[in-house]
Amino acid sequence: MFKLKYSLIFSLFLVFGVFLGDQLVLSQVEAETLLILNPNIAQYTMPCGNTTDNACPNIAVALSATNSTNIVLDLGNYTYTGPNNTNINLVNITLTVQGNPNAYATIDLAENGLLFSIMDSQQKHGDVVLTLQYLNIVNGTGFHGVYGGVIYITTNYSNTILLLENVVISNCNAYYGGVVSLQTTLNSYITFSNSTFTNNSGTFGSVFYTTNFCQVNISNSNIVGNQGNNGIIYVVNGAFKMNNVLIDSNVGGSSILKLSNNGNVIINNMTLTNNSVQRVVDPMGGGVMMLFQNFVQLLNSVISNNVGSAPISFNSISTLVIADTLISNNNASALGGAIALNQGELFVTNCVFASNYALQSGGAIYIFDAQTLKLTNTTFTGNSVGPDGSGSVLYIDNVEFNSFKGVTFSHNLINDSINPIFCDDSDIEINNITSDTDSLVSCSNGGRAGCKFTGNYDITEMSCPPEGRLSPGAIAGIIVGSIAGILLLVLIVYIIKKRHHNHHKYHSYH
Ligand SMILES: *[C@@H]1O[C@H](CO)[C@@H](O)[C@H](O)[C@H]1NC(C)=O
Ligand SMILES: *[C@@H]1O[C@H](CO)[C@@H](O)[C@H](O)[C@H]1NC(C)=O
Ligand SMILES: *[C@@H]1O[C@H](CO)[C@@H](O)[C@H](O)[C@H]1NC(C)=O
Ligand SMILES: *[C@@H]1O[C@H](CO)[C@@H](O)[C@H](O)[C@H]1NC(C)=O
Ligand SMILES: *[C@@H]1O[C@H](CO)[C@@H](O)[C@H](O)[C@H]1NC(C)=O
Ligand SMILES: *[C@@H]1O[C@H](CO)[C@@H](O)[C@H](O)[C@H]1NC(C)=O
Ligand SMILES: *[C@@H]1O[C@H](CO)[C@@H](O)[C@H](O)[C@H]1NC(C)=O
Ligand SMILES: *[C@@H]1O[C@H](CO)[C@@H](O)[C@H](O)[C@H]1NC(C)=O
Ligand SMILES: *[C@@H]1O[C@H](CO)[C@@H](O)[C@H](O)[C@H]1NC(C)=O
Ligand SMILES: *[C@@H]1O[C@H](CO)[C@@H](O)[C@H](O)[C@H]1NC(C)=O
Ligand SMILES: *[C@@H]1O[C@H](CO)[C@@H](O)[C@H](O)[C@H]1NC(C)=O
Ligand SMILES: *[C@@H]1O[C@H](CO)[C@@H](O)[C@H](O)[C@H]1NC(C)=O
Repeated sequence: MFKLKYSLIFSLFLVFGVFLGDQLVLSQVEAETLLILNPNIAQYTMPCGNTTDNACPNIAVALSATNSTNIVLDLGNYTYTGPNNTNINLVNITLTVQGNPNAYATIDLAENGLLFSIMDSQQKHGDVVLTLQYLNIVNGTGFHGVYGGVIYITTNYSNTILLLENVVISNCNAYYGGVVSLQTTLNSYITFSNSTFTNNSGTFGSVFYTTNFCQVNISNSNIVGNQGNNGIIYVVNGAFKMNNVLIDSNVGGSSILKLSNNGNVIINNMTLTNNSVQRVVDPMGGGVMMLFQNFVQLLNSVISNNVGSAPISFNSISTLVIADTLISNNNASALGGAIALNQGELFVTNCVFASNYALQSGGAIYIFDAQTLKLTNTTFTGNSVGPDGSGSVLYIDNVEFNSFKGVTFSHNLINDSINPIFCDDSDIEINNITSDTDSLVSCSNGGRAGCKFTGNYDITEMSCPPEGRLSPGAIAGIIVGSIAGILLLVLIVYIIKKRHHNHHKYHSYH
């Protein structure tokens, strides 16, 4: 057990070593000092914590009982509260605070602040490795109510590793980061694993907030029933990874997951369900997931029963990859019942979009002024828009490259009047699609550049423009016709120009 813990801490230092190079102070890895705590102990002899009879009564006393910089505090299964278990600053320390794995200890911050700040200065600094395990933590209110309901990291001279593992954190609140807030110019590694975050709140990031570079990993955890105005998880400029996470029944304001400028984001096996965000009309003004300026891979996930604006709102010159994912029963106020996307590329593979709804356009996907829409082996079933909407499945406007391969459309046609695909100013290659309706496509009425279709789509008819139902042959005819038209136009322009040119020539001779 001890060896295991030691090697864990050591391996964290190895991570430090790999990422931080010579900033690593290896001398910090000294033998760890284990101290026993018991809040019911009335009399103790300093230095306390060496036996259960001489246990330390609280965290502050325990930390003052040793000069070691590698400390484990064993909180047993007790409940800790009061000023000596609240608002403790950590500098230059490797600290593990743990309860009993079979009966977690509780730390009640009683709305008197946070548990730990990690705040340095030029005079007092040094890297911090903080691990919290087997704990319930409740009622944190942050640093002056503003930063980090439970933990506030603000460093200019030190690196930080924070690991929350097997903890349950609830009823905490702060303006920035209802549970953890990070503000730093140095390297930081934030890991939440095997933990539950519930009923926390905040204005920016009800569970986590940063706008600085850092590495955030969340795995095997539940983020349930939190409330906020600007995201439950708010990571701007940090790198972000998430694996096996349930995000359920949160109320997020503009978003639940707000991820911007993160480089590569990998989200695997996420269950994003029953969350709600504000209803906004601007497709990039809100979203259950707001993904801005990043490259995102969303894999093996379920995104269901969310309401407000689009479940996924992606705005980036980069790429959103979605694979092996079910997106169903989401309800968006305006545009994109599953996804609203601007600028970049969307690759969707092996997915099912079922019964999503957008009031205005794009019952499943609303994509505009973008680079690429590539759909492969994907099913759209039962998606819809409101009575005045368009594109019960896809709304495609000014997207440079579109390719559908092995896509199935079923039960998306509304009242025989709103077609599944609305297209404007885009070329689409369609191969091997299956549709239960011949009226698959409609085009903008008096739209700008119209749409061109290529590929082997094997349904007999498509309707685009909506006035008449046209067979693929007829569409080919239109394309040929319009090419002929363009040629004619070019010829006319050429002739006029030439005449004009000659006219000029003529004049120039005089
Ligand atoms: C525990 O520490 C106290 C205070 O330093 C000391 O008096 C006592 O002998 C120690 N007990 C053991 C078993 O080491
Ligand atoms: C609180 O901790 C300080 C040391 O940080 C100690 O001097 C004081 O006695 C402690 N108070 C209680 C009630 O334990
Ligand atoms: C910590 O170090 C100080 C100064 O070096 C010393 O006076 C004190 O006894 C030490 N405390 C413990 C608990 O070892
Ligand atoms: C807490 O731990 C003590 C021994 O450390 C044990 O006697 C007690 O039953 C435990 N209580 C709970 C609720 O697990
Ligand atoms: C702390 O939270 C618990 C519920 O987890 C609640 O019963 C208790 O009243 C709260 N205490 C304070 C001081 O807020
Ligand atoms: C951090 O603690 C170690 C070990 O106690 C000490 O050698 C080092 O000087 C401290 N670093 C700073 C910046 O105070
Ligand atoms: C870190 O630096 C920033 C900018 O100089 C400053 O605002 C902040 O107070 C500093 N933080 C600490 C803990 O010294
Ligand atoms: C949620 O947290 C708030 C305080 O932030 C508290 O008043 C409320 O009782 C909590 N609800 C539950 C179900 O714990
Ligand atoms: C995660 O939590 C579960 C249940 O609390 C426990 O059985 C499992 O061992 C934990 N895993 C780790 C890696 O701590
Ligand atoms: C997916 O994540 C959930 C927790 O949200 C977990 O129970 C499940 O085992 C994970 N599935 C896989 C294949 O890892
Ligand atoms: C197509 O997607 C479905 C899920 O929608 C998946 O079960 C199937 O394996 C995929 N087929 C191929 C050839 O990848
Ligand atoms: C369409 O499907 C057939 C049979 O599955 C396959 O041979 C062909 O390559 C596919 N065409 C395209 C363009 O994907």
